[in-house]
Amino acid sequence: MTTATAGKGLEGIVAANSGICWIDGDAGVLAYRGMDIHELAEHSTFEETTYLLWNGKLPTAPQLEEFKKHLAAARRIDVRVIDLLRSLPTTGTPMEVLRTAVSALSFYDSDEYDNTHEGNVRKGNRLTSQIAMIVAIYDRLRKGKNIIEADPSLSHAANFLWMLNGERPSETATKTLDIALILHADHELNASTFAARVIAATLSDIHSAITGAIGALKGPLHGGANEAVMRLLYDIDKTGKEPVEYVKDLIAKKQKIMGFGHRVYKTEDPRATHLRRMSEQLSRDSGQHKWYDWSRAIELYINSEKKLNANVDFYSASTYTMLGIDVDLFTPIFAVSRIAGWTAHVIEQLDDNRLIRPRAEYIGPGYPNHWVPVENR
Ligand code: ACO
Repeated sequence: MTTATAGKGLEGIVAANSGICWIDGDAGVLAYRGMDIHELAEHSTFEETTYLLWNGKLPTAPQLEEFKKHLAAARRIDVRVIDLLRSLPTTGTPMEVLRTAVSALSFYDSDEYDNTHEGNVRKGNRLTSQIAMIVAIYDRLRKGKNIIEADPSLSHAANFLWMLNGERPSETATKTLDIALILHADHELNASTFAARVIAATLSDIHSAITGAIGALKGPLHGGANEAVMRLLYDIDKTGKEPVEYVKDLIAKKQKIMGFGHRVYKTEDPRATHLRRMSEQLSRDSGQHKWYDWSRAIELYINSEKKLNANVDFYSASTYTMLGIDVDLFTPIFAVSRIAGWTAHVIEQLDDNRLIRPRAEYIGPGYPNHWVPVENR
């Protein structure tokens, strides 16, 4: 077979056939199973969207009820994983803790060695519920608070907020988070999903694939950017500088502004449209204007000066902050949603698997480069 050399970062390379997610980066279109993200954000729920991603079509009313019941019933974590959470250093970030805990969950999963389609659906179901629980439980443990029992009567988004805060979430908070979870649920062959597919393709197991995906998501060039955006806004607040002037200085120092730019979108990231709207709405409702106002001023400046658009991470920062969520939980919340897409991709990969093993263009010393005894070097 002939080989072609890919550009740096595999830009523009089509590395898989997939029927899950379609992106038109020039037109700013994102669709799950052909359904436009704007329609899903307006009408769907995280549970229904997850069903769509996993099954290729929207559920009927009884199918949706059954699916929600399964997710609620899966809100259970072995006590030994909770003990593990208690034993981890408090210096660990929630994202590191999530990575470690997801790996540990495999030991206590009754389907640990079942790599069939059905086994992975069951494990994906459990992981979807458990990832949200781990994020909420670890946040309470590190703050010296009690663990809140899951409530099966609540939706995925509402149960997460309930277990995080120990208070019934408002309708606005639940709806805002639910939409954010829909928007983050899948994104074709992004770095973490590609990592998950590479791991799954070796016929390893779904817990390994998701653990690897969490590691990839954590980086600031990927999901970690939402935390970096908020840290930038906090720095602006601390220094008292004018936001656009602050960002101008960073640009002059050739630094990247987190939450802007995208490998695929050449126009507005359609997810940012909803997050901007929700950030603005929360800002109006709460009277906390600065985070939205500063974000908007920075966005307008970066648009005009650098011709870069805000991506999904930019307005999720101010949105989550106005929901009262701590900054280091932002990327874990990305995982709370993206587990839906990761699972869909692992299952799709295994339904028609072949090992993913590309080649490298060798640019090292010429061959043969002979070994020399240590005394002669
Ligand atoms: N701020 C300033 N300049 C930028 C930014 C940015 N956020 N993003 C891209 N650029 C510039 C680069 O400096 C580069 O300029 P040059 O050609 O003069 O050197 C050019 O635009 C192309 O940038 P690359 O980094 O080569 O683009 P790539 O496609 O490799 O990277 C990425 C895409 C990683 C998203 C990039 O835009 C970036 O680093 N953004 C900030 C981090 C971020 O927000 N990540 C989240 C992405 S969405 C997600 O993963 C959920």
